[in-house]
Amino acid sequence: MKILFFSAKPYDRQFFDRYNRDHDFQIEYLETHLGPHIVNAVGDDVGAVCVFVNDKVNAGVIAVLAAKGVKIIALRCAGFNNVDLEAARWHGMRVCRVPEYSPQAVAEHAAAMILTLNRKTHKSYNRVREQNFSLNGLLGFNLFGRTVGVIGTGKIGAAFCRIMLGFGCKVFAYDLAINEELREAGVSYVPLDELLRGSDIISLHCPLNEKTHYLINEKTIAQMKSGVSLINTSRGGLINTIDVIQALKNKQIAYLGIDVYEQEEKLFFKDLSGSIIEDDTIQRLMSFPNVLVTAHQAFFTEEALSEIARVTLETISALAKNEAPANAAAILI
Ligand code: NAI
Repeated sequence: MKILFFSAKPYDRQFFDRYNRDHDFQIEYLETHLGPHIVNAVGDDVGAVCVFVNDKVNAGVIAVLAAKGVKIIALRCAGFNNVDLEAARWHGMRVCRVPEYSPQAVAEHAAAMILTLNRKTHKSYNRVREQNFSLNGLLGFNLFGRTVGVIGTGKIGAAFCRIMLGFGCKVFAYDLAINEELREAGVSYVPLDELLRGSDIISLHCPLNEKTHYLINEKTIAQMKSGVSLINTSRGGLINTIDVIQALKNKQIAYLGIDVYEQEEKLFFKDLSGSIIEDDTIQRLMSFPNVLVTAHQAFFTEEALSEIARVTLETISALAKNEAPANAAAILI
């Protein structure tokens, strides 16, 4: 079977080619994202399309794919907000994803962001290369004994809680559901306002939905400790960026680490080093010395990419044979 692979990067090819040795699919890698601009060019020999977070798989695109004979839409990520599932169902297509690839990858990246911002290792790196061995401006604080607030203690939040407990932090958590194992490990579940008031560092690990959209806003920021550190590796829309910029300016927020950004679609996963960035908000954020922006790389580890490639190809293989895949949660329809 032929798989047409959209938004392909060199690292995708590396991992999918490796795991395809177990399957022998014919994979054609395209750099372009999937959307209305390209879907008519899909050949009638394609059985499955493989897409990522910024591919647009709306009803119009799905109708064309179905007419071309495509049977499977495989998301090589966990989220599926960019696929119109109802349209796919209507056309009798199967849709799958990778529900969990490496919670530790994201949790460890959140921890790396805290340490980078706090101990300013990104500044030391550049400074020492310039033969500037002075310590002025590099003062940090101990994590040991600090209170870390974790919003969302699912797979990633739980892994993050354990890392912070390992540092000797007091961990406050807020979630709609309580994880008893975490509580036994020493995490204190508290109401959201208590978490906001009592935490030195706040890390977001809940999904983006109508309830969590702009969870971090002028009002909730005002409840936080002055000089709080805020980390977001979850989804950009959890944060009202304009309010956060204001709080950085008035020093209510002392450190901000973000791996996700509400308007990231136009920026992330691209080399724009020769371009003029039109988004003034991200430019303002990047101008702060106490803000660290990474471009949705929290998942980006050897282990996570291996798991993504392995599960995606296994699931496509099972669907193609009309068999149940090993991981039932991989099937959306
Ligand atoms: P999960 O589904 O295991 O956990 C989410 C947790 O959030 C659940 O415990 C749920 O009860 C809780 N939650 C839901 N609504 C809430 C609310 N209103 N307030 C507080 N808690 C709430 O998800 P997982 O795998 O831990 O992923 C978390 C998020 O991380 C994903 O939604 C995704 O946005 C993000 N992510 C980011 C990646 C990156 O590379 N930066 C990679 C993978 C995921």
